[in-house]
Amino acid sequence: MSNTVNTIDEDLVAEQEAKRQYEFIELCKEQYKKDVEAAGRDLKFHVTTFGCQMNARDSEKLAGILDAIGYVEVEEEKDADFVIYNTCTVRENANNKVYGRLGYLQNVKKKNPHMKIALCGCMMQEPQVVEKLKKSYRFVDLVFGTHNIFKFAELLYQSMTSNKMVVDVWEDTKQIVENLPVERKYSFKSGVNIMFGCNNFCSYCIVPYVRGRERSRKPEEIIAEIERLVADGVIEVMLLGQNVNSYGKGLAEEISFAQLLERIEKIEGLERIRFMTSHPKDLSDDLIAVMAKSKKICKHIHLPLQSGSTEILKKMNRHYTKESYLALVSKIREAIPDVAITTDIIVGFPGETEEDFQETMDVVNTVKYDSAFTFIYSKRTGTPAAKMENQVPEDVIKDRFDRLLALVQQHGREHAEALEGTVQNVLFETPNEHDDSLVTGRLDNSSVVHVKASKDLIGKILPVRLVECKGFYYMGELA
Ligand code: SAH
Ligand code: SF4
Ligand code: F3S
Repeated sequence: MSNTVNTIDEDLVAEQEAKRQYEFIELCKEQYKKDVEAAGRDLKFHVTTFGCQMNARDSEKLAGILDAIGYVEVEEEKDADFVIYNTCTVRENANNKVYGRLGYLQNVKKKNPHMKIALCGCMMQEPQVVEKLKKSYRFVDLVFGTHNIFKFAELLYQSMTSNKMVVDVWEDTKQIVENLPVERKYSFKSGVNIMFGCNNFCSYCIVPYVRGRERSRKPEEIIAEIERLVADGVIEVMLLGQNVNSYGKGLAEEISFAQLLERIEKIEGLERIRFMTSHPKDLSDDLIAVMAKSKKICKHIHLPLQSGSTEILKKMNRHYTKESYLALVSKIREAIPDVAITTDIIVGFPGETEEDFQETMDVVNTVKYDSAFTFIYSKRTGTPAAKMENQVPEDVIKDRFDRLLALVQQHGREHAEALEGTVQNVLFETPNEHDDSLVTGRLDNSSVVHVKASKDLIGKILPVRLVECKGFYYMGELA
């Protein structure tokens, strides 16, 4: 399917859809009152999120609707009457975790007659998963996917008024339904979707199959949402997309990611802008220029490498080479000298030889990332890489993984130590879990610092001296 521009008719349909969902919220409210009467107490909900920032943002949308209906949020899953798992399927172990936890939930449900269990997110887009649930996990009440999450209120109403398992998973959608309720986890920062889906089809990756084709939100919708967030106390936004650098494709108005950033920068009251994720193949000179002169965009780029071997990158369908990646890093560092660069790396892609792995180590040694997420290749059914020959043996992967991890951790520590003693701007985010006198915050580059300070500072950005580097985090004091 090609990426098409939303027509006026489609806009109208999306608007009517939002209205319809608000009607279902009203119906759910009435049903909720009846359920509360029957139970003799308030009913509680808990959303468990697996996977990436997109899922975290989706979970806030689910919580927003449950909250609007009247359900009370609880911290512990075991105390909830409505439990929803927002799942991830990017690697096999993400799936296994969900099945394991469902086994435990079944026992909890036996003791609570008011309990409902719902599953949504990327894993539900895999037909074999839904089949397995229908066959062996009949105690699950509601199953839906990523494309129809906007229908949550409607599906919830169906589930509230029936004892049967409700299943509704779509193959794809072009719709973007705006302005449904959202309940933010933090009052002062928020994720903001700028696009959905992915068109890149990296050969190992399941995301394009479970999140559908790339669709950008209109700039005016994004700006309006951020303005509303800022009016509501948000000072930091994280712009979300699988490949933010290709933002704008298919929109009626011609706009690039760099131009979108420039518009967002103008929003008064907004202090920090982050974004995730930046595909190296589409990172433009304009973006570098906008970042270099910006006062609000954090000097941090997450630039997934995946592999340092040009041969493997080709098989991964990444559309860059070792050399072009390194040239891009040099260009970024030249324009933004104090930039933090982080990455994702996969070890053990099919056919990866020791020489290929050494190319990865070489890039890591050259770039010296501030931090890196390292992953063991996971075979995902339906992706081209799953059918490739020369899958690498487990013990070989493990040995490479350990060597890579040691190297990225060494660089991480070196970067962290280099900032010891300096004063950095810190957004105070949460009370420290272990020590009540400390508040935990984040630097521009996302590193964590614990500071002896009043909780009243939460939600504010203030200068902090990084007194002591503790490896990957700091102890600091107000400067
Ligand atoms: N859109 C982002 C990545 C989203 S998935 C990007 O292109 O950078 C996050 C990370 O999971 C990827 O960067 C990749 O390193 C890892 N990943 C994806 N599929 C994987 C697989 N099959 N096995 C192991 N790691 C994988
Ligand atoms: Fe997956 Fe590649 Fe899309 Fe990222 S860009 S989500 S790795 S297919
Ligand atoms: Fe996982 Fe889906 Fe994100 S597969 S990584 S939750 S897009």
